[in-house]
Amino acid sequence: MRLAAIYPGSFDPLTNGHLDIIRRAARLADELIVAVLNNTQKTPLFTTAERVEMIREATSDLVGVEVACFHGLLVDYARERGARWIVRGLRAISDYETELQMAAINRRLYPEIDTLFLPGVEESAFISSRMVKEIITLGGDASAFVPAAVNRRLHEKSGGSR
Ligand code: PNS
Repeated sequence: MRLAAIYPGSFDPLTNGHLDIIRRAARLADELIVAVLNNTQKTPLFTTAERVEMIREATSDLVGVEVACFHGLLVDYARERGARWIVRGLRAISDYETELQMAAINRRLYPEIDTLFLPGVEESAFISSRMVKEIITLGGDASAFVPAAVNRRLHEKSGGSR
């Protein structure tokens, strides 16, 4: 049986930490669906289409990775796609409480699904999309924290002022 896993997130934008999790999860699963949340209640920096495109660019060398978007409940999308694992990265202990809660709720909603936590690598432990956005908004250089495809778009968003 093929093992399909889903790596959901906002990815606004994708960071090197996310990319590391994608690379490692792609080695564990036969098929990895990177699922970008299309959340109509939030105003992201990047549109869903832009986020999907950037992740596709950054993962173009990986086999068995598909990038898609979803809305509504994650478990409904996972069921529809036949995924049995949800992959989430854990950067620090502070992530743990929320992640554990999400994993428990998702399992309650869809008992056939389980969550696989992958520890973030040390270099990425402090990176978050929120921090990347803050750096860019304040005119800084985030190139050390994001893939080149994302850095290019960030540069465009900030009006090429850096
Ligand atoms: O990158 P993020 O913002 O930490 O990802 C959070 C995400 C997208 C995984 C989570 O918000 C989610 O699954 N949203 C979909 C709605 C849902 O299923 N909620 C119930 C899970 S507790």
